[in-house]
Amino acid sequence: MSTLLYGLPVPGLVDIPAGATQVSPLVPGSSDLAAVPDASADAALVLAPGGTLERDHVLAQALRALKPGGRLMAFAPKDKGGSRLKKVLERFGCEVSEDARRHHRFCAVIRPESPVGIGEAIAAGAPRLSPDLGVWTQPGVFSWDRLDPGSARLMELMPPMAGDGADLGCGVGLLALRVLASPRVSSLACVDIDRRAVDCARHNLGDPRVTVRWADVRRLDDEPARLDFVVMNPPFHDGGTEDRDLGVAFIQAASRALRKGGVCWLVANRHLPYEAALSSSFESFDVRADAGGYKVIEARK
Ligand SMILES: C[S@@+](CC[C@H](N)C(=O)[O-])C[C@H]1O[C@@H](n2cnc3c(N)ncnc32)[C@H](O)[C@@H]1O
Repeated sequence: MSTLLYGLPVPGLVDIPAGATQVSPLVPGSSDLAAVPDASADAALVLAPGGTLERDHVLAQALRALKPGGRLMAFAPKDKGGSRLKKVLERFGCEVSEDARRHHRFCAVIRPESPVGIGEAIAAGAPRLSPDLGVWTQPGVFSWDRLDPGSARLMELMPPMAGDGADLGCGVGLLALRVLASPRVSSLACVDIDRRAVDCARHNLGDPRVTVRWADVRRLDDEPARLDFVVMNPPFHDGGTEDRDLGVAFIQAASRALRKGGVCWLVANRHLPYEAALSSSFESFDVRADAGGYKVIEARK
């Protein structure tokens, strides 16, 4: 029996059959749900994302990939969209049996012969060229339809870069585009954990100086310390929950990747206490601006 698994539920929340195929874009190396052939899977377990367009797209993709009669179990924390799952699945023509435990809602459905409106939901959440941003993007990726104000602040303040560098957590590549405007940049290694962002960044950064890698920055231990610069707007949410250790891990990864004397330009929400991590990972650092809720920091290894 073939089972698709979307996401990483906390252990014990649902029974995951051995051999289930992970299809979340946030798990490097997983399969792409959009590439699973129509009506091919027996079952799907979907930890539904919170954003409306993204959630409807994922649930519609799961229904598309299931055989008629296949079982879908969609679930989410009650306060992160779980209470809306039943309505969405009913709109797709499914009969839903709902259950609640451990602060989650669980919706079990049998895939109907002809689900209603899944093509529209798939199209509404698909990658697209944003006329406002001028780049490829997709609902669900970080700040998918607008320039993040923190990244905008960093772009305003950082000087033109030079040499070999990296953009850790590159998203769809807006910060990277700014870095590449400097002709003195020889190479830029872009990394993100989100396959959708990586796919968009590959479209958006068609520049021979760029490589884009789908990976977890916390596991980049193979990188030699040779870079001249790193730029980043580190994430501080993991699975929707604030995780300050994630930002600290980015600071440590930036330090590991830099040569002695290399610089890291980063932006952080001003409430995040990164000073201790910067002090222990870098020779020195300066807060270049602290306004509008953001700190822009230059750190030197
Ligand atoms: C604050 S956003 C910045 C995106 C982009 N640089 C920008 O300025 O628009 C942080 C990015 O880090 C990515 N990310 C989160 N956790 C990650 C991890 N462990 N490894 C690599 N990338 C990660 C997210 O997918 C997101 O694209």
